[in-house]
Amino acid sequence: MDQQLDESKVDLKEASTKRRMWKPHERLQNIFKGNSTWEQARIGDVDVVRLSVLPQGAKLIPDSFGVIAEPDWKEIKKASLPFGFEWQQSLSGKFDFYFELKKGLRCLALGERFSGLNVRGEKHTLISTDNPHHDESMDSMYKPIPFLVVGSQNKFFGIFIDSAAPSRFDLDTELTEEGRIELFTRRGFRVYVFGEATLPQLVATFTTLTGRAKLPPLWAIGHQQCRWSYPDEETVRELASEFRKRKIPCDTLVLDIDYMDEYRVFTTNKKAFPHFEKMIADLKKDNFKVVTIVDPGVKVDETYKHFADGKKQNYFCKTGEGEIFHGKVWPGDSAFPDFLNSETRKWWADSHRFYTDAGIAGIWNDMNEPAFFGTTKVLPPNFSEMPEEHTEFCFHEAQDGVIPHLEVRNLYGFLMTRSTHEGLLDARPKERPFILTRSGSTGIQRYAAVWLGDNKSWYEHLGKSIPMLLNVGLSGIPFAGVDIGGFWDDALPELVIRWYEVGIFYPFFRNHCSLSGRGQEAYAYAPNVEAIARKLIETRYRLLPYIRGLFWEHMRSGAPLMRPLMWHFPTDAVACDIDDQFMFGSDILVAPIVERAHEYRTVYFPEGNWYHFETNEKYEGGRPYVVNMPLGTIPAFVREGAVLPLADVMQHTGEYTTKKITFKIYGDKASGVFFEDDGISWDYEKGGYNEYELVYTDGKFTANKVHGGFPSTQQCAYQVAGTTKSTPVTL
Ligand code: GLC
Repeated sequence: MDQQLDESKVDLKEASTKRRMWKPHERLQNIFKGNSTWEQARIGDVDVVRLSVLPQGAKLIPDSFGVIAEPDWKEIKKASLPFGFEWQQSLSGKFDFYFELKKGLRCLALGERFSGLNVRGEKHTLISTDNPHHDESMDSMYKPIPFLVVGSQNKFFGIFIDSAAPSRFDLDTELTEEGRIELFTRRGFRVYVFGEATLPQLVATFTTLTGRAKLPPLWAIGHQQCRWSYPDEETVRELASEFRKRKIPCDTLVLDIDYMDEYRVFTTNKKAFPHFEKMIADLKKDNFKVVTIVDPGVKVDETYKHFADGKKQNYFCKTGEGEIFHGKVWPGDSAFPDFLNSETRKWWADSHRFYTDAGIAGIWNDMNEPAFFGTTKVLPPNFSEMPEEHTEFCFHEAQDGVIPHLEVRNLYGFLMTRSTHEGLLDARPKERPFILTRSGSTGIQRYAAVWLGDNKSWYEHLGKSIPMLLNVGLSGIPFAGVDIGGFWDDALPELVIRWYEVGIFYPFFRNHCSLSGRGQEAYAYAPNVEAIARKLIETRYRLLPYIRGLFWEHMRSGAPLMRPLMWHFPTDAVACDIDDQFMFGSDILVAPIVERAHEYRTVYFPEGNWYHFETNEKYEGGRPYVVNMPLGTIPAFVREGAVLPLADVMQHTGEYTTKKITFKIYGDKASGVFFEDDGISWDYEKGGYNEYELVYTDGKFTANKVHGGFPSTQQCAYQVAGTTKSTPVTL
């Protein structure tokens, strides 16, 4: 469905004159007939107004699956909304929202965008799309989340369109201080308007409404290694042994599509992996977890159990004629489970016993936009309204009957992932599941970690990963990362090192590349390069106690782990404009080099004093410095006043409890948090965890127990940064 320019259809006269000129936007007449209601509620620290719209003829507002909170809504006549917000139905298949966007206001969030942090001045089409060409001209990606944050300093507002239908946000592209959202639907929907609030308050409220990520298993935040593909058992075993032999820490090996029998999900390739279960068991002994990819496309093959079952039970999406809809993906012609149907979800969830019985630790859901080969643009460029329902190519079974694909496309990856989550939970109720997904929509953080798809081994993509992940975090998703080293193309050693320098601060930490590129594992390079990569990965493991604390913080406040500087320094105009640096929690400022052949960069330090993570050199805040960062530098600066819990180096998280944790003190008066639990079970939800407030003042260190419920044997000490003396601490 790639849209080509058909010259014969272009009116050259029009193209060269009329269409190039700016014209004020003409609003069509409002044709809305139906029911609409306004309600309001206080959620957390924020006033929220909700508009529910049910067009005439529509039966009910389709379940968005995104919202989980049920605050006490009070119906109101009409809300007075920020930005002169107005709405109307302009066409049978299109609603418009208009609002003012005064100069200077920043626009943030919107899920996954190939953009800087401020997404203003661009058009954003929100429809889940597999487009591997990540560049300025792409207009939709894998994770559409129609939550827009607008504001500056301590005054932010949010608009959330709670619909799985496609939408397009025009955020003042014409510099006329106007914003416009088009929602392409013939069904009902809801809109939430939040504000005014600080940025942290707004994200807290949004994630109260749409849910937060629970604590991941500890192993899942360690180093993960993937490649499309490690083709056979021998290669996978060798990979594991290289990591251990070379003492490069690693927890997880990820198997891409070639572990399967001709890409049939819920099978293995017996030739390449003759002892699949034994291999997993052996790797487990060596403290490796194995994660396998599972795509939604089920090979159309009557002799394949999963296809035959799904067909018999009526679990696949249909064409308008009631036939099973086929699309081409890795297995060739494939059928697509209808995840809108709760029975299909249950069937899919249960099918995961195949993996859990084999000892697989987690599942990677991919191609779940859903992707069909050759489709990099789902909507035609002139798409102006949702087509009439009967003209669509694929249909689902929703709660009020049949629903065409485009109306709910944005939910496909979300519901597949939810089903996977339920399957793992069912199979191992006592363990926190790990799932990684490429597509997802509002609330996906409740079920999975995400990565941002098929980037390239380009410095540009390394740089862009920062603002992109910041917006993903502001959209509610804390557990996120990108392919370290880049997916397509060859990653040369310098790039891989620079990427690990940033990647150790991605909440999700995985090296992955495509089949066409050279080996990209930390040891695939010359010994001096490997040594630097080892040091960086070791640093990730040293940071684990701090990172666990950040996930804990997310659960309670919704705060992402990677935060734009404006999160903590909202009144610092310079800090607010920066998106090539970020805060990792409240205590670490990360300012990496993301260009080839550079050794110096300007780092802006917000107010306070800051200390280089490695050299402990001091920088005074409120001004920029030019900092020398040769290859392999940890590009992090610690806030004066912080106590960082840091672990001794380990090879995998199985060693975590045997390693000493040092509370590193920055400044004469400092405080921090230390969180611990068993790292795998749900006991923390019932109080089975410890939380300490770490305080250093007048040369005295204390760890005050805020909560005690976990029998810890962890050895701890404290150390003032810049000194070598380490003093044991009994907790
Ligand atoms: C998709 C995924 C990529 C994976 C490949 C093969 O392109 O985004 O990560 O390696 O499919 O499964």
